[in-house]
Amino acid sequence: MAEHDDKIKVIIADDVAETREILEKALYFEKDIVVVGKAANGREAVQLCKQHQPDVVLMDINMPELDGIAATEAIMAQVPGTQVIIMSVQSEQEYLRRAMLAGAREYLIKPPDTDELARSIRHVYKLGAAGPRLAGGAAETAAQRTDQGKIIAVFSPKGGSGCTVVAANMAVALKQITNKRVALVDGNLVFGDVGVVMNIVANKTIIDLASRVHDLDAQLISDVTVPHASQVRVLLAPPDSQSGEAITPDQLRAVLEGLRNQFDYVVVDTQTAYEDRTLTILDVADRIIVLMTLELPAIKNVKQFCELAGPLGYSDDKLMLVLNKADSRLGIRAESIESQIRHKVSAQIGNAAYEMTLALNQGVPLVIDRRNHPVARDIVALAALTANALNPAQAEAAKPGGAGTATVAVTPVAESSRGLFGRLLTKRS
Ligand SMILES: Nc1ncnc2c1ncn2[C@@H]1O[C@H](COP(=O)(O)OP(=O)(O)O)[C@@H](O)[C@H]1O
Ligand SMILES: [Mg+2]
Repeated sequence: MAEHDDKIKVIIADDVAETREILEKALYFEKDIVVVGKAANGREAVQLCKQHQPDVVLMDINMPELDGIAATEAIMAQVPGTQVIIMSVQSEQEYLRRAMLAGAREYLIKPPDTDELARSIRHVYKLGAAGPRLAGGAAETAAQRTDQGKIIAVFSPKGGSGCTVVAANMAVALKQITNKRVALVDGNLVFGDVGVVMNIVANKTIIDLASRVHDLDAQLISDVTVPHASQVRVLLAPPDSQSGEAITPDQLRAVLEGLRNQFDYVVVDTQTAYEDRTLTILDVADRIIVLMTLELPAIKNVKQFCELAGPLGYSDDKLMLVLNKADSRLGIRAESIESQIRHKVSAQIGNAAYEMTLALNQGVPLVIDRRNHPVARDIVALAALTANALNPAQAEAAKPGGAGTATVAVTPVAESSRGLFGRLLTKRS
């Protein structure tokens, strides 16, 4: 269909003919979007995708023959370049989770309004253009898989980029979509504010683990981490800055490794600094979500960080560059960032200053209270993308169920590798 080359090609899959018509009509006046096919079940959807290679599929969940989740999986495996938006009614939350894990990039609650529909299509189209799709764990080979949980650090080389807010929301979103064991750690040991963002007051903090790194068993970890209503367990920063300063990089490493034994995902908020403890968090992390806002100082610092990543021993895959507070009105496009920084943009999170501030002041993350807000969805999509990339699928069976006794050996960091320069020198030699 050469005449559609410059448009976003969409396939609609829904078993109800009327819904297909409504969606098609809703998109009719969008100049940059064209519907190239309609499917009445999942099998047809997969076939049409192979035939037309659309950019985006609007996929209903409940369909005969092959449901939307199985069809999403098939498309992820067989039609590279096609992104899936899953559609469902409000009551199908559990299915939505599974669809996101199957590789869907976005979800819409039916019936979506026209603006929302077109916006979502453009959004996932951009995501598709921005980076390779990771789904169903296809990116990870069996050899790389371990039984340990995964550590996800949220970092930015520019303060105020949203690390704390994104870490908290991501932890909750990971819990919502995977229902695995999720911990949220305040890695900002001196000015930690995860407790405020999650509205948690407790006297147990990371100090209680750092001081007992030789007996970090399930019981101790469960005693010190604070349960949040979302079922995420939170490890708070010390209440005063002196005790935060006293935690050593080795202790921090041991605490994180200990948490890895008890949780499937450990999300760590970090401070903006190239100091030893922050670098330790980045070292042990399986993925670093690098947040960048569309401001020149932030772009400059992220570019610098990406250049340091190689010498620090962080692979390209380990870094997931994410634009936060993204707003098309700022006139900076993801593609131009990518060519400047020479790193692909994995995802974007929209800008919602008012809602974010309200959520902060209420102590309730956006993904809990405003799940359908576009920014909450962006974060859910990022959580799904990260989970897919890490795929700890089979970790479950091997985990110590309750009172595990796994302890962690503390490997001291050589004196010569302290500090950013020390590290760069040792990594090089
Ligand atoms: N996607 C977003 N849209 C609008 N404001 C945001 C977004 N993410 C974060 N913010 C705001 O940015 C500010 C800094 O966020 P914070 O998480 O404290 O950043 P950091 O931990 O990186 O210093 C907060 O006021 C927060 O509400
Ligand atoms: Mg912060």
